[in-house]
Amino acid sequence: MKYVPTTLLTVYLDGRNRQKVGRLATQDRRILFEYDPAFLSGGLLLSPFQLPARAGTVIGDPAIFDGLFGVFNDSLPDGWGRLLLDRTVESLGIPRVSLTPLDRLAYVGQHGMGALSYEPDYSKTDVEAVPLKLDQLATEAATVLAGDQGAIVEKLLKLNGASAGARPKIVAQVSADKKKIVHGLAALPKGFAHWMIKFPSQLDEADVGPIEYAYSQMARAAGVEIPETHIFGANKKRYFGIKRFDRDGDRRIHMHSLSGLLHSDHRTPALDYDAFLKATQVLTKDVSQVERAYRLACFNVLAHNRDDHAKNFSYLLDDASGQWALSPAYDLIFSAGPNGEQSMMVMGEGRNPGIDQLRALGKKHSIKKAEDIIDEVRSAIARWKDFADAAKVTKKSAAMIASRIAPPPPPKPANAKKTPAQKSPAAKKPAAKKRAASNKPAAKKRARER
Ligand SMILES: Nc1ncnc2c1ncn2[C@@H]1O[C@H](COP(=O)(O)OP(=O)(O)OP(=O)(O)O)[C@@H](O)[C@H]1O
Ligand SMILES: [Mg+2]
Repeated sequence: MKYVPTTLLTVYLDGRNRQKVGRLATQDRRILFEYDPAFLSGGLLLSPFQLPARAGTVIGDPAIFDGLFGVFNDSLPDGWGRLLLDRTVESLGIPRVSLTPLDRLAYVGQHGMGALSYEPDYSKTDVEAVPLKLDQLATEAATVLAGDQGAIVEKLLKLNGASAGARPKIVAQVSADKKKIVHGLAALPKGFAHWMIKFPSQLDEADVGPIEYAYSQMARAAGVEIPETHIFGANKKRYFGIKRFDRDGDRRIHMHSLSGLLHSDHRTPALDYDAFLKATQVLTKDVSQVERAYRLACFNVLAHNRDDHAKNFSYLLDDASGQWALSPAYDLIFSAGPNGEQSMMVMGEGRNPGIDQLRALGKKHSIKKAEDIIDEVRSAIARWKDFADAAKVTKKSAAMIASRIAPPPPPKPANAKKTPAQKSPAAKKPAAKKRAASNKPAAKKRARER
């Protein structure tokens, strides 16, 4: 790996075609961006709220993302990927603080998530297919987390593919039968697809992989759109994998996080599901996308996925039509948010949101099927034990989660009018209080190197 300070970067969109998007430059510690006139005339907007189509130079807001526009900040790894790059450059004698966002983007190069790429490109990847041994990688990731500085850091950096998130992970190409896992091919072999595989962090329970898999199955049963998921490995060493939605075969798809879109730092939770649904409506202009966002809100709240920060929601752009859509869901797992609260509030309630706030959210956004959606989500969650058993979640974790997630809906008496109490079961359930009282993070904790 080499280090050359970067002051000028060219940005490309590698979608259906390769298009030059524009140039990024640093000047007096500020970050400047200028769209390429040809790209502007194509009419495609990569980040419509914060980076409008405008000729000439625009300057990033130094108060957020170190002055980088959110759409480019989305290309940067945080958490685990950032740690790997920091360790690698420090092994070359370069202090991590001297790396600017443009330096970091040059290390992303062509190997980032989504469809943006950057030149000069200092990223490294293997040209030959390298078969991966997941158990070995999980052990190596654990030694890095424990402070190891050795050559494995550079190897894991290559496998990370500039993905975001706190937990160790790799991007890889996986065969249809899931038996072959390789990294580094220029072109996807026939029958393979791009996947992401996650390993436990130091703070995770050993069965975090099976728990995330069980949650993915439960979300699917609740009607949440989620990519194909799989448990890789065997016995006690099992890892959660998810097919990537920013790749269709080898075609790259532009992806933008809610955090990047709204310039909202995911480390300081400030958003409400109200803002998420509104952003979805304005960006996609499609009520069915708002309904998908609403269903995800119901799932996260009722399944106690409280790590629902602004980077855990994304949008995808069809670069042929210019149409945006909410991406399939990801990172759905039993988790605690900051101080045990929901990271994303629901109609102002962060401490312990429930059905009442979800109903109010549905009403505000005119979600016609809100009651049906709540019911569907609740009945899937009521089957948690089945999903946990099928994924071989330990009995201890399964029982702990069962005690904290929303109970099944009370049976509705035939032809009976709803009483006010029945309309808001979560508000009167002792389980809701119990949840607030014992909000210790368990399956996924939040001390992270973000
Ligand atoms: N199926 C997918 N396809 C494409 N990108 C994905 C997919 N799943 C996750 N990602 C991207 O990878 C990032 C990290 O994934 P994920 O959120 O699951 O990891 P994590 O380490 O558990 O995150 P966190 O820090 O939120 O706990 C996401 O923010 C998203 O940008
Ligand atoms: Mg995440």
